[in-house]
Amino acid sequence: MTSLTSAPRVPIPANGVDYRGKVVLAPMVRSGELPSRLLALKYGADLVWGPETIDRALVGASRRVNPRNGTIEFTRVPSNGGRPDKPLHESIIYRLDPQREKGKLIFQIGTADPELAVRAAKMVAGDVAGIDLNSGCPKPFSTCGGMGAALLRTPDKLVSILEALVREVGNPYQIGISVKIRILETPELTENLVSRLVKTGITGLTVHCRTTPMRPRERAIRDQLQMVASICHKAGVACLMNGDVSSRDNALALMSEYGVDGAMIATSAESNPSCFRSKAEGGLLPWRDVVYDYVKASIESENRFGNTKFLLNTLIPGGKKNPEFNHAKNAKNYADYCRILEFEDLLPGALEVDTILNLTEKSIFKTETRSKAVQNAIKNNETARAAGGAPRSKTASATPATTGGPIRTSSIPASTPKEENGAKVDLSASSPPSQNQEVTA
Ligand SMILES: Cc1cc2nc3c(=O)[nH]c(=O)nc-3n(C[C@H](O)[C@H](O)[C@H](O)COP(=O)(O)O)c2cc1C
Repeated sequence: MTSLTSAPRVPIPANGVDYRGKVVLAPMVRSGELPSRLLALKYGADLVWGPETIDRALVGASRRVNPRNGTIEFTRVPSNGGRPDKPLHESIIYRLDPQREKGKLIFQIGTADPELAVRAAKMVAGDVAGIDLNSGCPKPFSTCGGMGAALLRTPDKLVSILEALVREVGNPYQIGISVKIRILETPELTENLVSRLVKTGITGLTVHCRTTPMRPRERAIRDQLQMVASICHKAGVACLMNGDVSSRDNALALMSEYGVDGAMIATSAESNPSCFRSKAEGGLLPWRDVVYDYVKASIESENRFGNTKFLLNTLIPGGKKNPEFNHAKNAKNYADYCRILEFEDLLPGALEVDTILNLTEKSIFKTETRSKAVQNAIKNNETARAAGGAPRSKTASATPATTGGPIRTSSIPASTPKEENGAKVDLSASSPPSQNQEVTA
């Protein structure tokens, strides 16, 4: 193995980020929308990858700043013209938080064409710390277009996409270009591929230690890892490992064992993003605390409700033993969740976002109950504000997640409360938006 100190290093561009020493959130379609990324950062992830976004979805999109929460939204009208019975509205295909994700967000692109890749990447290049090329998604919708894992079988194309991205996006925008691959069937095949990739000008390479046909439940194979890391190091490229990394502590141990520069976590972070907290920082948080933070972040982000619901079904432990799970499953809007889970202090924000997202009428609660609960919630909020602090759910335990305990503050940008329509929106404790999946891996 090449010594990390003596190895050459590809220079990190001025607006880019070095992947070395980082434990990062993996790209995850649906599960990697803005609220999930903000939670991962809050709990200690060093960098976050956004969900794979297909080049064509981004080309032709418009960029706008959401005046209520300051997030940047890339929107477009559906390419199929939308439903004839519904008014045409723009969908948000990507959303990011320029403050809290600053210097930490890697945009992952799905593409099979250098020219389209460059056009799409230029749309977001000024707002992110790096562009990562997905060369590992095995799903037919990705591979049938020659994208994702299909690129592993067309190395010339893969190399030409990376070279185009480095030349036309990485250099002018001064951000890093990286790639995420899977291992191939034999070490020799992987070695040949990686040897070519590290010469394209990329700053980082992530290797998912499974072959393309392997299912997610199959154990990651790590016997090619040192070889991949060694090729990367000789070329000065940072190497991240991925596959069955369960927590920050586990990541650090594996990084040391296999001589890789960093580690990427997907499914463990999907079920409990507080896995980014080390044991010394308190380790995994109870699900209620994580769910509280997630609902708060989703409200502040104006996250698409369907996406929030999808994630909550993962974050709230299921089964007959947990009546809250069964009850929460019925929620039809954000306010419903706040009532069911007794997050009263989040209710005013929930009602606001329900109005913005046209969800108000869908509530499973009756109107009288609603107005009374709203009045109580608003009253509680005002009382708490007057007392100089935000109220907290009476049932969620007071944990470091919101009380300034062992969360690594280097990952938490400073608070910037905003005045919006007379209501204070605190962008620090958690935050912004969603994505209408037209897109992805
Ligand atoms: C819900 C979900 C969505 C995913 N979406 C993407 C994606 O957009 N791009 C990508 O490169 N990999 C994607 N993956 C794969 C993960 O990034 C990761 O490589 C894989 O889950 C292995 O990591 P793990 O063992 O920590 O789960 C996805 C995985 C999951 C579970």
